[in-house]
Amino acid sequence: MIRLAIRCRAEHADLALAQLMELAPTGVEEVRDGEIVEYAVYGPPGEIPELPDLQAAVGDDLVEVTTSEVADDWHERWKQFHGSVLIGDGARGFVLLRPTWEPSGEREDVVELVLDPGQAFGTGSHPTTRLCVDLLLDIAPERGESGGEVVDLGCGSGVLAIAAHKLGFGPIYACDFDPLSVEATEVNARLNDTPLAVERADLREGLPSLAPTVLANLMRPLLLEVCEKIAALPGDHGIERIILSGLLVEEADEISAAYAALGLTERRRVSDGGWTGLLLSH
Ligand SMILES: C[S@@+](CC[C@H](N)C(=O)[O-])C[C@H]1O[C@@H](n2cnc3c(N)ncnc32)[C@H](O)[C@@H]1O
Repeated sequence: MIRLAIRCRAEHADLALAQLMELAPTGVEEVRDGEIVEYAVYGPPGEIPELPDLQAAVGDDLVEVTTSEVADDWHERWKQFHGSVLIGDGARGFVLLRPTWEPSGEREDVVELVLDPGQAFGTGSHPTTRLCVDLLLDIAPERGESGGEVVDLGCGSGVLAIAAHKLGFGPIYACDFDPLSVEATEVNARLNDTPLAVERADLREGLPSLAPTVLANLMRPLLLEVCEKIAALPGDHGIERIILSGLLVEEADEISAAYAALGLTERRRVSDGGWTGLLLSH
């Protein structure tokens, strides 16, 4: 297992992270050291980003790149890095994202998901996942009612799809172009006793069937491409509300305006750690 770390100045960190995540969408470790931020990705040789690609992406923001062999205990490092994450407030309820190695919270007012992160994005350690879950709480149906069909575009570990089901939506459809994400979503759906349909699909090649509720925690370029593809669909796209994230704060206006052209109006904007999530609806 290789650990590839890039170090950059704190003022360039958000941009460097956004670019790094396009190369390593499965998750990035962050370590802050005063003015310097280190981002690290883990993977077997050949599966981590190539150094020239990384240097080209991060460009002038880069201070240093290092690679090191990680001992076989890397799973233990991973565990230290990922703890349980509680999202929400008392008024709208809470969602707890709990990795398999943490004990259950067993609280009645908390909707709990147990997640085996595998190598897929979506443990709750990244703000964009938390922002999407927070926005899902906003649109969750009353207890006992159904929120209707959901499609999760770029499902990663399946966290949003599973949270949607536990909050009363269904049926749920999820897709991702990364086979590790599809696998992780299937594993996590079983762990949570959640029925969902998941398949491997590349959103750049085409859209799956849409649903009244769409979740899309993707990066800006892909959100724009998805928006264009929705606009080009014949007839009504059928989307009643959409949660978008994967955006830097400064990218949110552009994305909100692009989706407004589909008849979807921004209802709520939430931000954390330089990232933004948007809820839009008819
Ligand atoms: C930021 S992660 C979000 C994961 C999860 N939905 C969450 O909120 O934690 C983006 C996901 O989109 C997937 N993705 C990126 N490009 C894609 C594409 N062209 N087609 C389908 N999935 C894609 C990545 O594999 C990754 O799992």
